[in-house]
Amino acid sequence: MHVIVITLFPEIFKALTDQGVLSKAFSSGLVNLEFINPRDFTQDNHRTVDDRPFGGGPGMVMLAEPLARSIESAKEKLPHAPVVYLSPQGKVFNQAQVKFFLDQKSWIFLCGRYEGIDERVLENLIDLEISIGDFVLSGGELALMCILDAVIRHIPGVLGDDLSAIQDSFSNPNQPDLLDCPHYTRPPIWRGHPVPTVLLSGHHKNIEQWRAEKSLEATQKKREKKQDF
Ligand SMILES: C[S@@+](CC[C@H](N)C(=O)[O-])C[C@H]1O[C@@H](n2cnc3c(N)ncnc32)[C@H](O)[C@@H]1O
Repeated sequence: MHVIVITLFPEIFKALTDQGVLSKAFSSGLVNLEFINPRDFTQDNHRTVDDRPFGGGPGMVMLAEPLARSIESAKEKLPHAPVVYLSPQGKVFNQAQVKFFLDQKSWIFLCGRYEGIDERVLENLIDLEISIGDFVLSGGELALMCILDAVIRHIPGVLGDDLSAIQDSFSNPNQPDLLDCPHYTRPPIWRGHPVPTVLLSGHHKNIEQWRAEKSLEATQKKREKKQDF
């Protein structure tokens, strides 16, 4: 997969590329991640990428021209890649969309900052607006890292055991809302709390049935009843 990210803060992505299980995807070349900084497409000495909003009001808006040039430069490398703007106003990302992102081998993502981007860029150069939920972040970088993490872990060879992603919550194609079952590890008794005996039985069919029941139970308990925080 080839991904170009348009961002003012490419260093933020080190949290994704340099640590943990996903770092292998980048070091092995399974994912080629490149950055374009809109500041490199400015034409003034201050390398200005934002300005005050027409009509007044607080905050700054990302200038259209450096963004347009960044997108055009990315398109020269990846002419068929959809251009996605990370935005709280976009369609909310979920596990079902992972396959959609996996199926396309090249992507261009635009991370906004400040009050967002000049609307004319959105109208003319963006194919898709994606959100990670109905809350507002300071920038699109964290949102994009969440999406990239959720997608890249499904590329074969990235996780130690490819099966571990398909038993996760929301990963059963017949029951997309189903949560994962509980997990336990050593010791078998921890502070007086024992592991369910079936898990120590070695009886695979019974274990599978127990896990299926516990998945349903967790889904009903945690998601189907109204939750108050
Ligand atoms: C402070 S936000 C701008 C919010 C914008 N004024 C609005 O209310 O729709 C700055 C940038 O963070 C990113 N962002 C914020 N919340 C997001 C979310 N929930 N999902 C994806 N991106 C988000 C977007 O790229 C956005 O341009």
